[in-house]
Amino acid sequence: VYPDQQIASVRVAERIARLIREKQQNKEQVVLGLATGATPVGVYDELVRLHREEGLSFRNVITFNLDEYYPMQPTAAQSYVTFMNENLFNHIDIDRENIHIPDGTLPKEQVHSFCLDYERKIEALGGLDLQILGIGRTGHIGFNEPGSAPNSGTRLVTLDELTRSDASRDFGGKENVPTKAITMGIGTIFKAREIILMAWSGKKAPIIRKAVEGEMSGEVPATYLQLSDNVEFVLDEAAASELT
Ligand code: F6R
Repeated sequence: VYPDQQIASVRVAERIARLIREKQQNKEQVVLGLATGATPVGVYDELVRLHREEGLSFRNVITFNLDEYYPMQPTAAQSYVTFMNENLFNHIDIDRENIHIPDGTLPKEQVHSFCLDYERKIEALGGLDLQILGIGRTGHIGFNEPGSAPNSGTRLVTLDELTRSDASRDFGGKENVPTKAITMGIGTIFKAREIILMAWSGKKAPIIRKAVEGEMSGEVPATYLQLSDNVEFVLDEAAASELT
């Protein structure tokens, strides 16, 4: 638990930078699982600063984003492709071929094989070294909404009404928020060697309490993280305020 999200974000960015540099020294690639939304923005800002001011290179970095709305054009303002470009990828030296984000443009009949392929690509690269997560007020990680299975893989899902309400401002009204998304599964996330879930502000305090201290249940998918030894919650004081 950190005094504020700024300090916490810098710490998480430093850990990512350390991992990248360690792998660089060994001439290895690093495979990162990335999230969108408000939560990781401070981490991405700091990574961009480390690139610009301290020479951190992303040439050995391969990324897989957790999710994308479906359907969604990559050029749309609300797409996670646009988000990642604006907040990180446009400002660092990552090889564009190393970026993976679920494809929101596929015809429905191609989604399943795309999802299997997403899993295969991660596995072929030796798995995710580090996955960063936010948490939704439904307890979702990625877009694994209540009811998601602990061994779920990348797939097409239906978004919870609360998640769509939370996204309504970005879309100029809830009616414009897609009803579906493609997301990595809980099982996909679980296979990462390290998982960092971040949450800021009192708005997240009730769900953080449930996720950390509540009974494990598919009703709060983030509770499945209690099963893993490789998970760390990074919180500001407000998000941690309801923990006992
Ligand atoms: C985003 C994602 C979501 C968000 C969650 C929290 O890629 O997978 O699980 O992390 O909805 O969103 P923010 O950070 O906007 O509160």
